[in-house]
Amino acid sequence: MEMLKTTPVKAIDTNQNLYDVLQERGIIVFSQNITLVKKNQFGKRFIRIRLDIIDCRKQFTIFLNEEKTPVMVINHLNQFQEAYQQIRDKIKPEEVLSIQEMLRELDEKKLKFSIPHSYYFSIGETAYLIDSSTSKKRALNIKSHLHSTAKPFHILSSHYHPDHWANNVLLANRNTRIYVHHAAREIFMPGYHVLMYTYLAKFFKTVDVVDVIRRTFRLSRRMLGLAAFFIRKTPILAILVFQAYNMKFVERFRSGKKHFYYLDKDDQVVFEDINMSGWKITDGLIALETPGHSYDHLAFYIPDRKTLFTGEIDVFLNPVSIIDCPQPLIHATIDQVIQLVITENIDLLLPSHYLPISGNQKIVEHLTEQKEKLQHCYQSICNIILEQTSWEWRKLMQAVYQSSDQIIQEAIRLNWPKTISNLDIYVAFVLQELGYVMVDPSTKTWRISK
Ligand SMILES: [Fe+2]
Repeated sequence: MEMLKTTPVKAIDTNQNLYDVLQERGIIVFSQNITLVKKNQFGKRFIRIRLDIIDCRKQFTIFLNEEKTPVMVINHLNQFQEAYQQIRDKIKPEEVLSIQEMLRELDEKKLKFSIPHSYYFSIGETAYLIDSSTSKKRALNIKSHLHSTAKPFHILSSHYHPDHWANNVLLANRNTRIYVHHAAREIFMPGYHVLMYTYLAKFFKTVDVVDVIRRTFRLSRRMLGLAAFFIRKTPILAILVFQAYNMKFVERFRSGKKHFYYLDKDDQVVFEDINMSGWKITDGLIALETPGHSYDHLAFYIPDRKTLFTGEIDVFLNPVSIIDCPQPLIHATIDQVIQLVITENIDLLLPSHYLPISGNQKIVEHLTEQKEKLQHCYQSICNIILEQTSWEWRKLMQAVYQSSDQIIQEAIRLNWPKTISNLDIYVAFVLQELGYVMVDPSTKTWRISK
């Protein structure tokens, strides 16, 4: 039994620039660059606003018509009025409200980054990096920062999915520890390739592989026919193609296992004031057991800074692999984290795939919204499946795609994966949870067994 010790931090001003908030808390974010553009027509002229997000630093650039030189560049909405005073002759008064509305829409857009963020911070003289992530460019950026600080550093790994650890080997030095949950021991024991191979072989026995390929690669009819021909002749080919596809996105599959520092059951403590269990990494830094997105999932908490790193517990859509956790566990973990955010008055949330969120109330709203979306999606997919006692895979997926449910349609929109069609994995998962079993492997037909 342990109690969390927290000291008060300066409260976040929610009107503050996110980048400044992160700096105040001593957090550096390495993220994927994103650019969004919004256009609007006013009579004969256009107004175009470009939003660039680089390492969570936002920049809004406003252009008139097709001009290449912008009329305004700001980093935060509250800079608009001051900047506008300088260029009153260029923007008509009747356009001001619309521009502010366009800026707000861009600013509030919920973005999902396909490459996970990496978060860097120091405690005392030691630096920590949450998730080395993937892409060589990311590794180089982090490396040059590590070089400039020259501090001893460790990696905290949120979970076993390779897009979160692919850069481990490029970053770890001789003394680096890579902290992982003890469940990762079993996952990495046979090696990640073997794990993926076994998982894909199992998954492909449950679904219509050609149908999954169609959704994953968006092939033309001719190419799909060709793929179907080869896969029927050599079923193993589909697994190898998906392995190669995975590798293309993740780039490298060496986890840096020899640096792994397992957070073992014997060292686990219950933090009684927050009713959660986990491990003390060092004074002022704890890893929290948060199974949901995967069984080895960890969140990281710095009580003194009221800052919580949530990995992928809140990501839509969960789960993304048939070896991950069932829905009730995912919902229960989000509930626990919401309670933690309320009890501890956490005001900075740092997820892997969304932009950081500042402000306690906003965080609670975000987590609640994500949980409700997950619950809604789960219920809707259950309802579709339960409409029939028997389903051929292809027909079931057709029914899902034809659903008029908004949340299912959002899941379909997001289903342009970097690895494999998430929605197929999700439906296969729920189908088995509801007690359907395969009765005809040739047509991939499932029937309820209870
Ligand atoms: Fe993941």
